[in-house]
Amino acid sequence: MNTTVSKITNNSLEIAKKLIENEELVAFPTETVYGLGGLATSDNAVQKIFTAKGRPSDNPLIVHVHSGYDLTKLVSVEHPYVYDLLKAFTPGPLTLVLKSKGVVSKYVSCGLDTLAIRIPSHEGCQKFLKTVNLPIAAPSANVSKHTSPVTSEHVYADLNGKLSLILDGGKCIGGIESTVLDVTSETPLILRSGLITRDMIISVVGKCEYADKPVGDKVRSPGMKYTHYTPKCDTVLFSRSELDLAQKAYDNYLSLGKTPYFMCDNIVSQKLNGNKLLLGTTAEEIASNLYYKLLEGEKVADVIIAVKIQTGSEIDVGVMNRLEKACKPYKKEGEL
Ligand code: TXA
Ligand code: MG
Repeated sequence: MNTTVSKITNNSLEIAKKLIENEELVAFPTETVYGLGGLATSDNAVQKIFTAKGRPSDNPLIVHVHSGYDLTKLVSVEHPYVYDLLKAFTPGPLTLVLKSKGVVSKYVSCGLDTLAIRIPSHEGCQKFLKTVNLPIAAPSANVSKHTSPVTSEHVYADLNGKLSLILDGGKCIGGIESTVLDVTSETPLILRSGLITRDMIISVVGKCEYADKPVGDKVRSPGMKYTHYTPKCDTVLFSRSELDLAQKAYDNYLSLGKTPYFMCDNIVSQKLNGNKLLLGTTAEEIASNLYYKLLEGEKVADVIIAVKIQTGSEIDVGVMNRLEKACKPYKKEGEL
């Protein structure tokens, strides 16, 4: 299959609409990462998404709709606070898990009785979703377990030949995936941290918990149990109190003839000597740069030596969640 990359224009949007209606796949930008979209009501299209990514069949997908879409066609809203959250944070990087009405393909939710819904704020994405005017199932547009893509080039590098069209909307600003929030109970539960933080949700609902642990036997967010976000080079992680060790590891890799790169924020950077993938200073900047720098790093480095971030913002939770999954522990000096 030929994969075309197109800027978002009236013409490419019309092509995208036809492809989606014909149960083909179209990648598109959002304010978080790029998505690999297919018609959510089509078993055929949804199965193509799983195949293209090599995604485990028990990891459910998020359904994307435009801001004027009537969500109650797809899900039941049981708790009135959901409307307050929709008003406060959508369109934007928040995914809500609600009771499904069973309208979309059964493969979207992988047997769960819930459905994850997201209304992205990215302008080009809204245009795409409005033009199509159908619910679009979309995971991040990367091969399963690889780092999520934040440019159309990243999507092309991973999925060339596996989809028809990539809509190019430039670099995604948010940089990490949406906050996934289960809103089927009295207390909203964060299944995946992101740019909409617990504090922000509490400011609207008055309460919110992290669903760190499975409740009973129920795995709340199946996707969280898999390894994720891993670049193609080795990546090891050090805490901020281990900068001496990080520098020793760097020097040791060098002496072994490897090309190491530090990946760290601009403050820690001042205490380290060597090649660097700089993440920035604020939590938003760091989130925005994280996948971009990991994907840049895998092209130039044999090993990325990452240092934990700590800005004091709650966004750190989401960034550290990704960073820890992307990295292997550094076991012993010189051990690759
Ligand atoms: O920002 C984002 O959310 C991006 C863009 C493309 O919208 N999408 C994304 O999709 O990150 P994906 O497939 O990479 O991650 C979806 C996450 C997984 O952790 C999955 O387990 C969870 O959402 N999820 C989906 N449906 C669910 C459901 N019904 N109940 C619980 N978790 C669900
Ligand atoms: Mg993903």
